[in-house]
Amino acid sequence: TRLLVLHGPNLNLLGNREPQVYGHVTLDQINRALAERARQAGIELTTFQSNHEGQLVDRVQAAPAEKVDFILINPAAYTHTSVAIRDALAGVGIPFVEIHLSNVHRREPFRHHSYFSDLAEGVICGLGWKGYLYALEFALDRLAPEPA
Ligand code: DQA
Repeated sequence: TRLLVLHGPNLNLLGNREPQVYGHVTLDQINRALAERARQAGIELTTFQSNHEGQLVDRVQAAPAEKVDFILINPAAYTHTSVAIRDALAGVGIPFVEIHLSNVHRREPFRHHSYFSDLAEGVICGLGWKGYLYALEFALDRLAPEPA
């Protein structure tokens, strides 16, 4: 079982970037928490951050050959602009959860629309960095459900 975590532009600045909005936890700390949970669960998890739209498209396109079963993605600013990343996700057909640290719905109107939400299995926003861990729990459950 393989999971891909994609982080969009400026998320490499987490920790210093508008901490009142995004918190003090760094991207490295988030990735390490995800890796630790994945290790416990016995699944493979790869993380990738890019400030470049095309690199994120390439990473999504490469996912089927890498046998990725599920994607967690925070498209960051590309959430509100990127038909290209949306089309890549639709094209590979790998289920994904969309994550935002901040509650985009109580921010500027231009953050209220997402090119991803209608394709996503679900969306987590406003729960801070732990939103990634909650999304990972969902993915684990989806991929290897506990017997009822
Ligand atoms: C974000 C919200 C986006 O509107 C913003 O452009 C980001 C981060 C979030 O995680 O809250 O860069 O995706």
